[in-house]
Amino acid sequence: MSLSEHIDKNRLPEHIAIIMDGNGRWAKMHGEMRIFGHQNGVSAVRATTEACAELGVKFLTLYAFSTENWARPQQEVDALMELLVETIGKEMGTLIENKIRLRAIGNISSLPAKCRRELAEAIQETQHHEGLTLILALNYSSRWELTEAMKKIAQDVQQGLVDVENISENTIASCLDTYEYPNPELMIRTSGEQRLSNYLLWQLAYAELYFTPVLWPDFNKEDLYRAIIDFQKRERRFGKTSEQVKVK
Ligand code: FPP
Repeated sequence: MSLSEHIDKNRLPEHIAIIMDGNGRWAKMHGEMRIFGHQNGVSAVRATTEACAELGVKFLTLYAFSTENWARPQQEVDALMELLVETIGKEMGTLIENKIRLRAIGNISSLPAKCRRELAEAIQETQHHEGLTLILALNYSSRWELTEAMKKIAQDVQQGLVDVENISENTIASCLDTYEYPNPELMIRTSGEQRLSNYLLWQLAYAELYFTPVLWPDFNKEDLYRAIIDFQKRERRFGKTSEQVKVK
């Protein structure tokens, strides 16, 4: 029996964010180069995306490349970029079949041209899909995103378009790359590490955090179901008391 049968489909997280971690350690365990781990991580991306689409989760954001990842050995960076281009091309069929809309957040303009092109094409081709929205965080970091938002707001103030007194949480949220999407309700990180690593810091303010020791290439649909079941057992209080939340 699949764990999916224990999921309450009426209380699904609308948006799940994932830090796909542990590819390097997985490769090492198998006596291979790090890129072998990333290559095998693609099947976990496919399984997770399919499971979210099948369940009816609306948004899935995957941390595929952080602004800090440029500091990795050049060979690994190049291989990751190549893998990304290749995977987007290969998975177009899955995206179309499952009516998945592909989007991206992050400093996309600084990605290699080939990567930008492949991404732009896939985004364009899937733009009218109404199933799951799959958001790739690429060359992304929260501090970069927040810095860009601050610059935009400062410019708007300077030009007299925004009054400082009127700057609200909504003003900031509307300047983030994620302005079109609801905040993730569940954040999953694989590989046993328990930190946010500059990922969606603003957006995850009230998210439930779920950490699993499973290394990303081994993460499968049942692991995702396990995380969702755990999420559904939690009481989300948003600063209120338990009694207040129960009365509703
Ligand atoms: C973290 O593991 C993983 C990454 C930085 C890259 C994730 C990329 C993929 C799964 C490949 C394809 C993705 C898409 C969306 C097509 P790590 O290398 O930090 O692992 P370690 O901590 O064990 O060294």
